[in-house]
Amino acid sequence: MAAGGGCWRGLGRLTWLWRCRPSLAIAQGPPRGVRCRFSSGVKGGVEGRAAKGRPLLWGAAFALGGTFGLYQTLQHRSRAHLAEQQVAKLPEGSLQLTLYQYKTCPFCSKVRAFLDYHGLPYEIVEVNPIMRKEIKFSSYRKVPILLANAGGDLQMNDSSVIISTLKTYLISSGSVLQLFADHQCGLLQSRFNLPFSVDLPRKSLDEIVSYYPSMKALNEQGKEVTEFCNKYWLMLDEKETTHLYPIKAARTEEMKWRKWVDDWLVHLISPNVYRTPGEALASFDYIVREGKFGALEGIFAKYLGAVAMFFIGKRLKSRHHLQDDVREDLYKAANDWVKAIGKHRMFMGGTEPNLADLAVYGVLRVMEGLEAFDDMMTHTKIQPWYRHVEAAIGHARVAN
Ligand SMILES: *[C@@H]1O[C@H](CO)[C@@H](O)[C@H](O)[C@H]1NC(C)=O
Repeated sequence: MAAGGGCWRGLGRLTWLWRCRPSLAIAQGPPRGVRCRFSSGVKGGVEGRAAKGRPLLWGAAFALGGTFGLYQTLQHRSRAHLAEQQVAKLPEGSLQLTLYQYKTCPFCSKVRAFLDYHGLPYEIVEVNPIMRKEIKFSSYRKVPILLANAGGDLQMNDSSVIISTLKTYLISSGSVLQLFADHQCGLLQSRFNLPFSVDLPRKSLDEIVSYYPSMKALNEQGKEVTEFCNKYWLMLDEKETTHLYPIKAARTEEMKWRKWVDDWLVHLISPNVYRTPGEALASFDYIVREGKFGALEGIFAKYLGAVAMFFIGKRLKSRHHLQDDVREDLYKAANDWVKAIGKHRMFMGGTEPNLADLAVYGVLRVMEGLEAFDDMMTHTKIQPWYRHVEAAIGHARVAN
């Protein structure tokens, strides 16, 4: 009886796998009313910066005896080198990262996309969604959880807080900032052993974590949940800010879309992948295959989960006010995103993905291999952008 009860309770949880954490109606984050259209001025700024850097690289590379053939390789491998650099320049012995996750959870996928892109090595602990004994140590009961061993163990909770914390940390490490500011320059420095200028004080991870305090709140269903302050805000000083966001609007834009991912985009996943009984079964088959389940658990999870989810999917649909055909919302979200990037940028971050690019990609990626994903690729304009992010992350991974 106890096992049966556990199984059912587990299944209840399982149906939330794609969502991982409940939604919450708390107003916070970027200032309201900020327009996120990329004005031509902004675009000019970002691209202008990239364009300026390149002739410099060419000239310098040539002058230093590099061959022109090198250029192609450099272009190709710049991402990989950057990743190596970032890892190499992190403070010694610090930042051993362990990610507790469900592989198919969009919030976990989002964190992985961030870590991979930034070339941060980490270990994965796949959590059994039914017993969850892997995260017994934590009173915070949702995944992802990231443990950082920087002398002592530091536990970070919530995907967006994890990302904001680590991004702040990377930038606050002076040498890394240098690379972020102009990684082509950093590339040259490493290739030709030029001296690195490191003059910025570095914030400790503990200190940064303390900028994102958690608080208890009630969600729409009257359930107590944990919310976090400053979730989408990077704790940068003025110099760091102008390095990362030469254009002020780029920062608000990034925050706005990161929040959009957490508040809207993730809610489209479940209803879409459980839309029909057939899709629900395929989705659970995939969850069970990728996740950590006992043999019997897996069989139960797959069939009971598929049936349960088919019904729960409908409830989610009305809770989040989705259209009757949930695909329409998914297509619209994908096209809204592409439109926000505009025709003149490869990524929202310009020539490199920013945190919003990585978040959207990370969330959509969990649908890969499922009908909803193929439909989205066929019926929206998102594919070229999606493949570019995939490639950018792929290059970073090669380095590890
Ligand atoms: C994460 O949650 C755990 C368990 O509730 C808590 O001990 C820890 O302090 C939290 N981490 C942060 C950075 O708030």
